[in-house]
Amino acid sequence: MGITVRKLHPHFAAEIVGANLRDVDDPTFVQIRAAFEEHSVLVFHDQHLTDDEQIAFTRRFGPLEETTRSIAQNTRVAPQIADLSNVDAEGNTLSADDRRMLYHKGNQLWHSDSSFKPVPAMASLLSAREVPPEGGETQYASLRAAWDALPRAMQTRLDGLVAVHSFAYSRALIAPGLLLPEQEAALPPVKQRLVRVNHVTGRKAVYLGSHASYIVGMPVDEGRRLVRDLLEHATQPPFVFEHRWRAGDCVMWDNRAVLHRGRPWDTKRYRRVMHRTTVAGDGPTVPDPVVAADAVPAV
Ligand code: OGA
Ligand code: MN
Repeated sequence: MGITVRKLHPHFAAEIVGANLRDVDDPTFVQIRAAFEEHSVLVFHDQHLTDDEQIAFTRRFGPLEETTRSIAQNTRVAPQIADLSNVDAEGNTLSADDRRMLYHKGNQLWHSDSSFKPVPAMASLLSAREVPPEGGETQYASLRAAWDALPRAMQTRLDGLVAVHSFAYSRALIAPGLLLPEQEAALPPVKQRLVRVNHVTGRKAVYLGSHASYIVGMPVDEGRRLVRDLLEHATQPPFVFEHRWRAGDCVMWDNRAVLHRGRPWDTKRYRRVMHRTTVAGDGPTVPDPVVAADAVPAV
C-alpha cells in the first residue's frame, strides 16, 4: 500500500497518509502497528468506515472490549461499538439535560479509556460520522512527554506507586448520583500502576486521568493532591495535541501513553455522531487489581 507517517506534534501524534483501513495488507499493518507504538496517536483522514469495517480493522490489534450497556448506550449498534453521539436511536438530538448527555460529559474530563476496569483498554479508535462546524475537537496529552519532563527525584518517588481508579468517583465529579447503585456495584474501584512502561519502545508514561481517585498507602488528601498536580503537569499546552474532526476521520490512540478529552460544542444546534471501538489490554497493571467498593472515599 505504501504509507507515509507525517508527524503532527513535537512529542507525539502522526498522520498516516495513503492507508485505506478497509483493506490493509500485512506489511502495511506492521508499519501501522509500529507507528502506533511510536507516536501514540494516529490520524487517518477520509476513511468513512461502517461499524463492521471499523470493528474488523480494530480487531487486528487484539480482542475488543465490549461496552458496558449503560445509560449512555443505545442498542442500535453492536456491543463492540461505544456510541458517543448526541443523537438517539431514532435520530433525534438529545437534550442537554438527558442523562446520556450528562454521562457523555465525563468524556470532557482528561481520561484514559477503561482505566476503571481491572484490565484497562490498550487502544481506542474513534471515527467521525457527523461533526459540528465548530467545537467538538478531541485533545490528547502525552503521558510520556509528561514523564520525561519530571525531575529525577519526582520520577523516583512515583515509580512503584499505585493509584485507585473508580468510575463512580469520576462520574460523581460530573453529577452526584449519576450512576445507579447497581451500576456502581458492577464497576468496583481498581488499582493501576502510576508509571507504565511500553515494552516495545521502553518508554515510561505517568498513568492517571479523571478516574484516578487516590494513591494506595498515602493519606487520601495527599494522594488526591498528587494526582491533581500530576494531571496539571501532564496536560500543559506543550504536551497537548488537538484534533479538529472532519467527517470520515479515524483517530486511534494508545490509552497507556496518552490522556484525551472531548471539547464542548453547541449540542442543541449541531449533531456530532462518533463511534468508538476499543482494544482490550493484555492484563492488569498490578496483581489483584479489584478494591472493595466501600474503600473509595467520597469526593
Ligand atoms: C472517547 C472519548 C472524546 C470525544 O471516544 O473515548 O472520550 O471527543 N471521546 O468524543
Ligand atoms: Mn474516552
